[in-house]
Amino acid sequence: MLSRVPPMGFNTWNTFGPDIDETVILQTADKMVELGLKDAGYEYLVIDDCWSERERDAVSGKIVPDSVKFPHGMKYVSDYVHSKGLKFGMYSCAGVRTCADYPGSFDHEYLDAVTFAEYGADFLKYDFCYHPDTSNGPLLYRRMALALRNCGRDILYSACNWGSDEVNTWIRSAGAHMYRSTGDISDSFVSFRDIFLSQIDNFAYSSPACFNDIDMLTVGMYGSGNVGATGCTDVEYKTQFALWCMYSAPLMLGCDIRKINDFCLDLVKNPRLIRINQDREGRPPFIVTKHSGGKVFCSVKIMSDNEYAILRVNLDDSEHRLYFCLEDIGIPAATGKSLMLTDAFSDDRSFRCGEIYADHLAAHDCRVFIARIV
Ligand code: GAL
Repeated sequence: MLSRVPPMGFNTWNTFGPDIDETVILQTADKMVELGLKDAGYEYLVIDDCWSERERDAVSGKIVPDSVKFPHGMKYVSDYVHSKGLKFGMYSCAGVRTCADYPGSFDHEYLDAVTFAEYGADFLKYDFCYHPDTSNGPLLYRRMALALRNCGRDILYSACNWGSDEVNTWIRSAGAHMYRSTGDISDSFVSFRDIFLSQIDNFAYSSPACFNDIDMLTVGMYGSGNVGATGCTDVEYKTQFALWCMYSAPLMLGCDIRKINDFCLDLVKNPRLIRINQDREGRPPFIVTKHSGGKVFCSVKIMSDNEYAILRVNLDDSEHRLYFCLEDIGIPAATGKSLMLTDAFSDDRSFRCGEIYADHLAAHDCRVFIARIV
């Protein structure tokens, strides 16, 4: 199965937008290996929109890579990415044009799937702009799913219709391995908070084989690049990454990893957070306490091997006290059991907690524990 656990990788859109080329991709591939991101699990290097010529080849009907941006063609780029032990991702759209007005795959699904297979692609992000009004979303996504499944190569299918047509109710049946459920992220606290909260009731639909994709991470962008906005603080990036990990969202890096700072590199390589994200059971967390209109909450994810991940997060703009009762997790006091908590951000800090746990969280901050019942 291609998405037994949430896919991890890098996508060009957040930082580079249309300004992509062979050099950026090759250097990013080098850095993914050098910085240990590949070893941490980030395996897909995905080229987003704006990679092709404006029109298909008049004779073959194929999409053609931009000859200035990619002078050696896509197979060359893909071979380089593969030579680094990484996987290679491409982008297209279910409409007649992509969102940035390049050729889309509408009515060319099988030809394009074979073209991507010829490039050696392992991943396809499939957008939703400019589809004919008379067409239907589920059918368009099914068409590309079947094209990919019959193109002669295993290609992970990443649907991107921004949550329209109640996508979570049918996208799994359409064959996608992950699906964007919201509009585009920008690099600000409000953007990622609202994207996350809009999906908090939908993660029950997300599980192995088809994961809810709440967009590429902005960790490390600090307001620069294509979707750079106000930028985020380090605390906010920590919270963004914790939310994505806890809720089994695909982890697609979006910053310029050639320039990533030490704080963000350590954050996105945090082995405990990644373990929570990649847990093979892929269960959605349940909420044990919430207040402030749902912006301050504690949730628990039951993991494999009898471990539990606990997220305590404050998405409000002022400090809050937050508690949880072991009773609400499913550990009644009469059992005499307690929890051994290990801080996911500094695993030398383990401590025992009985009946209730309470502390204060600063605005926008979070705390994550991995717990065992003892
Ligand atoms: C949007 C999509 C973005 C990016 C962009 C490219 O529709 O949500 O993630 O792919 O198109 O034009």
